[in-house]
Amino acid sequence: MAREIRTVGVVGLGTMGAGIVEVFARNGLEVIAVEVDAGAGERGKAHLAASTGRAVQRGKLTQEQADELLGRITVSTAMSDLAPAQLVVEAIPENLEAKAEIFATVDGFVSEDTILCSNTSSLSVTELAVRTKRPGKVVGMHFFNPAPVQKLVEVVRTVVTEPDVIDDVKAFADSLGKVPVVIGDRAGFIANALLFGYLNHAAKMYAERYASREDLDAGMRYGCGYPMGPLALLDLIGLDTAYEILETMYRESRNLLHAPNPVFKQMITAGLLGRKTGRGFYTYE
Ligand code: CAA
Repeated sequence: MAREIRTVGVVGLGTMGAGIVEVFARNGLEVIAVEVDAGAGERGKAHLAASTGRAVQRGKLTQEQADELLGRITVSTAMSDLAPAQLVVEAIPENLEAKAEIFATVDGFVSEDTILCSNTSSLSVTELAVRTKRPGKVVGMHFFNPAPVQKLVEVVRTVVTEPDVIDDVKAFADSLGKVPVVIGDRAGFIANALLFGYLNHAAKMYAERYASREDLDAGMRYGCGYPMGPLALLDLIGLDTAYEILETMYRESRNLLHAPNPVFKQMITAGLLGRKTGRGFYTYE
């Protein structure tokens, strides 16, 4: 019988974590958000308040609905608070060892039927699964940025995932109004494997001063109908995240398409990570 998922946990309240919390709370779920860094927890809460505030201003939510939505979210610094969750999604930065530690810890606190998901975009879900006592109940649940807007959720099955777990996660994603697709455990899954060769090429064209950033972006927006150009998209994703994704895909495939252009490392060293630091290819207020 399908699991009933009413209470969910999210670990990490960065850009993706906060977006995923918003998706869950908007769909009436009780959300326990754990962020071990208290400062990041406060930033995450501010992000959620700002996003619901915008929805009120645009007439998408009433003030009462926004208050109820925020009331369904509990922010904590203790992993043990995840105990009541029927499904937990980890959304911390792309570091395998840190993610594996979280999986091993959460595994000890939640019920044995709870599904553990990673929002990783390129790391091995199998490696995370085997760090728990429930490898059959560990999957990838990969959301896209901004999570409240993008409909795709990549559901990643490993060679040991139990089939009913995949069915339940797909049904759960459907219930959130998302479009789930199921794939095997390979770096990049579907969307990033196709997208990041293109983004890397755009960064190369920019670094070679082949065209201005505005013209590169205009080329894809107005020539191909993309909602944003590649450099603006890299700023949205974050150059550090983009670099990690390219590196991981390159390590796995040795396909030069994914060898990160040196401009990524240079910009990261200079602190130009994109929107989150106020400057990347573009400068933000
Ligand atoms: N959180 C919540 N809602 C947001 C949001 C955010 N961060 N950003 C935008 N929105 C909402 C707005 O509130 C608005 O909602 P309504 O229509 O209900 O009023 C809607 O999205 C459209 O927003 P805007 O009018 O402000 O802007 P826009 O029409 O230019 O759209 C965009 C902005 C949604 C970001 C759009 O440009 C877009 O889809 N860009 C492409 C993004 C993309 O490719 N994402 C995938 C990145 S790859 C990835 O995430 C994978 C990985 O592993 C790194």
